[in-house]
Amino acid sequence: MTAPDGGSLREQVQRLLDGPLPLPIVQAGDPVLRGVAAPYAGELDGALLPRLVEAMRTTMHAAPGVGLAATQVGLPVAIAVVEDQWEADPDSARVRERTPVPFRVLVNPAYEPVGTERVSFYEGCLSVHGWQAVVARWRTVRLTALDEHGRPVDEVLTGWPARIVQHETDHLAGRLYVDVAEMRSLVSPTEALRWSADLTPDRAAAALGFPLA
Ligand code: NI
Repeated sequence: MTAPDGGSLREQVQRLLDGPLPLPIVQAGDPVLRGVAAPYAGELDGALLPRLVEAMRTTMHAAPGVGLAATQVGLPVAIAVVEDQWEADPDSARVRERTPVPFRVLVNPAYEPVGTERVSFYEGCLSVHGWQAVVARWRTVRLTALDEHGRPVDEVLTGWPARIVQHETDHLAGRLYVDVAEMRSLVSPTEALRWSADLTPDRAAAALGFPLA
């Protein structure tokens, strides 16, 4: 696999790992976020994949975030990490169905909806720094992927874990959450506090004028 400006994937990863941590997170406007990531096919042999995964985990924690796709650190390959073990407000966690997600690596992930129910909540992205918008996402999805050892993953996720997986898998298809968000719900970094304490986006929907799923 080669990239026009970066050499082979191995070389790109090596160069990234030679630099400081946390890794720089690329922002919307960088074409790497808009390309379809190549399926991972074992290019990072030896210690390289574990080292990349650890660097991505450190970067996700430092951000802080609950998921990070390889494209967000400039690598056009279908690998993402997810983890959500942050302390959450109990009422907010209940309404969002936010249950802890242990650290995991998703290689070549895909998802499909289970049922037809969609739920609307504000979300953000480390590559659209500080902004938030409401996205109606499938409440339940079936996730298929490989883990970092090449073992198949096949499971059904509901609520916030399902949202995280949809967001990260979309990244690897070149999609950002703003592509599927209610754009009238968009809040700038300076306005986010106005709505972030709300359990649901209902008040924002009424004030800003956007529909909810
Ligand atoms: Ni994101």
